[in-house]
Amino acid sequence: MHYITLDSDTDFNGWRKAARTLALNQVKPADVTWTVQGSEPELFAAPRDALPPETPEGRFSVSARFVDLAKSAILHRDPERFSQLYGVLWRLRGNHDLLQVATDPDVARLQALSKTVHRDQHKMKAFVRFREIGREPKSRYVAWFEPDHHIVEATAPFFARRFADMAWSILTPEVCAHWDGHAVSITPGVPKSQAPTQDRLEETWLTYYASIFNPARLKTKAMQSEMPKKYWKNLPEAALIRPLIEQAERLSGAMIAAEATEPKRSQRREAPMTRPVHADRDSVEALRDQASHCRACELWKDATQTVFGEGPQRASVMMVGEQPGDTEDLAGKPFVGPAGQMLDRALAEAGIDRGKVYVTNAVKHFKFVPRGKFRLHQKPNSAEIKACRPWYEREKASVRPELVVAMGATAAQSVLGKTVPITRSRGYIIKLDDGTHVLVTVHPSYLLRLPDEQARAREYARFVEDLRIVAEHLGKAARAA
Ligand code: URA
Repeated sequence: MHYITLDSDTDFNGWRKAARTLALNQVKPADVTWTVQGSEPELFAAPRDALPPETPEGRFSVSARFVDLAKSAILHRDPERFSQLYGVLWRLRGNHDLLQVATDPDVARLQALSKTVHRDQHKMKAFVRFREIGREPKSRYVAWFEPDHHIVEATAPFFARRFADMAWSILTPEVCAHWDGHAVSITPGVPKSQAPTQDRLEETWLTYYASIFNPARLKTKAMQSEMPKKYWKNLPEAALIRPLIEQAERLSGAMIAAEATEPKRSQRREAPMTRPVHADRDSVEALRDQASHCRACELWKDATQTVFGEGPQRASVMMVGEQPGDTEDLAGKPFVGPAGQMLDRALAEAGIDRGKVYVTNAVKHFKFVPRGKFRLHQKPNSAEIKACRPWYEREKASVRPELVVAMGATAAQSVLGKTVPITRSRGYIIKLDDGTHVLVTVHPSYLLRLPDEQARAREYARFVEDLRIVAEHLGKAARAA
């Protein structure tokens, strides 16, 4: 039996070196016991038969795919992961295509470990909340987080890129990560009592959160599965969630009571008997899942997640924006921040029900530069728009809208396949060679940025006018059908 002791729970290089030597010496997985320094049972404390000697002439290689899988699976808390990884490595020597066999139990187990780790990393990216300690320019931002797996070191570079200008620390029970503007350092974990609880920006954040909380889109179950309760205790906004939900329930209760009238029989339309038109692979749900792994450009690296389009699978209008903003990036949903509220208001004024509209963006990841605690929006470039265009094309093919509304220059570039001046192209319906009807208009953020109130009111009215053209076109299309 060979007893291998790794330096730490995340010692991928140690595992790799040992696994390579063991495999070259033909040591079977059943003859290896893996442990981590500090957690060896008494039995292993004495020096043991560790690694066999290196075989200098021996070589074998594994695919980059296995290395990626192993690098994430090793971060799982399961104590069996080292031997499971070695088991798959052992089998890969005789079967290079093993990883393609998704039904193989060993492969499936590793993939499940890796998926769980990715999910935990995603939660960390979404739910870490920094609190400011001290005053500028000497302040430091400190967050407390309780990950399920050994993900802190692997996820720290994400925070270093995103909050490059801030000095920050993420404290966790097992290890802490720190950033001083130049390098990430890792120190042992601390108890929760060392985590800060208050900061001066928190009040602003809470006010903002309450203002973007949209009771019309309240889906408590989905919200709880995306933001599981275990994270609530560390989120400053969590204290607001229950009162906001209760308020929303009161409001919707009142609305239901007020609208309890039966439609006249002649006005009522029976739901058409339809079957799903698309094979599963092309449904919006399936596309969303595929896009969540998109690496077609570099923007995924700093963004929290892919923000895919949302709306009914069959929608007569598809509204396309530029890219998710800060709020959308965190929420994973398009147009839920200030620009989204502006859009909701304008759609309602034009007589269009947002619930029936499919809303998406030309670019599905948030592009920004970090500025202290904030992330400043950056316009996507042509290469990024082009890299993301296949998702728009596939969404359009899946939803098959009557009309696509391109809001702003980036959306117009993606939808029309070329750059156009918005001022000259807006407000009328264009028919593309493939039969798609398109209307170009301004982006709602443009309205938010206008400094003078009069100009804002004038431009907002023009935006609503453009949306009325949309409503009219849909009315005509429905009558013709
Ligand atoms: N701006 C956009 O273009 N899209 C969003 O989802 C939010 C803001």
